[in-house]
Amino acid sequence: MTPEIKVELSSSGVMSVTIARPDKKNALTNDMYGALADAIARASGDEVRVLLIQADGDTFTAGNDVSEFAAQSTGNGPKERNVVRFLRGLANASKPIIAAVQGKAVGVGTTMLLHCDYVLLSEEAQLITPFVNLALVPEAASSYLLPLRIGHVKAFEMFALGEAVPANNAVAWGIANKAISNAELRAEARRVAEKIAAKPIGSLTAMKRLMRDAEKMVAQMDRESAIFVERLASAEAKEVFAAFAQKRQPDLTRVVRQ
Ligand code: COA
Repeated sequence: MTPEIKVELSSSGVMSVTIARPDKKNALTNDMYGALADAIARASGDEVRVLLIQADGDTFTAGNDVSEFAAQSTGNGPKERNVVRFLRGLANASKPIIAAVQGKAVGVGTTMLLHCDYVLLSEEAQLITPFVNLALVPEAASSYLLPLRIGHVKAFEMFALGEAVPANNAVAWGIANKAISNAELRAEARRVAEKIAAKPIGSLTAMKRLMRDAEKMVAQMDRESAIFVERLASAEAKEVFAAFAQKRQPDLTRVVRQ
């Protein structure tokens, strides 16, 4: 249990999961991934009809906590990487998942959206996938799902350059349903979630199963994870994480490729 993930279940069966670490831009720690994974597991029960993922503060999430990446890169990470349980849970989720995204959605903040079924963005939201800038590789089966969703060249651009994709492009490319004002975001997400929660749940879950190939996604996650762990231990990644801690730009010119 961590107060940085808040879970609430409404009488209509909408379970909201709120990322709540705004002072650190909602960067996700191993404990937070654990709580997210627990919430997704709970959503498979009969009491939950729809899962709604949202976040407090001005940023949806700054992605994985970079200081935890740094610890993992020197072999001092947690024994169990809860992110793996969280991502597998997302891939296997049977209930519809709605996301309400304001501000920046970095790394897993963007890749988790590929597992959501209805994505609402605030008009100033930005999707950022800086895995290569961090000397890592994409995760959450995004190396498969993103090219499938938006085509190879745009996916390559997002991954290789790691530049922010504005909300209107994300909608035009099919990553999100629509962009609305930040003031309306939460209420609109709740309205959509309630509407979906009132539909026949057996039909919804059967439809979702037909639309998503969980086995394929998990297999891709396993491939990505093996390479991700290797990359975390690379000299390139160590320099990037040291630079983040020291609030400076990384100097990769002297790091030999590994
Ligand atoms: N991990 C750990 N701490 C993070 C973090 C992350 N991913 N992102 C932000 N923070 C912390 C900052 O270190 C800072 O902490 P401090 O107040 O103790 O110094 C605090 O959150 C505020 O961040 P700041 O950078 O000052 O906010 P900003 O509005 O200028 O920028 C971001 C916000 C998200 C653009 C920027 O923080 C960022 O790029 N973060 C790293 C994102 C990243 O690479 N994530 C990994 C993805 S795989």
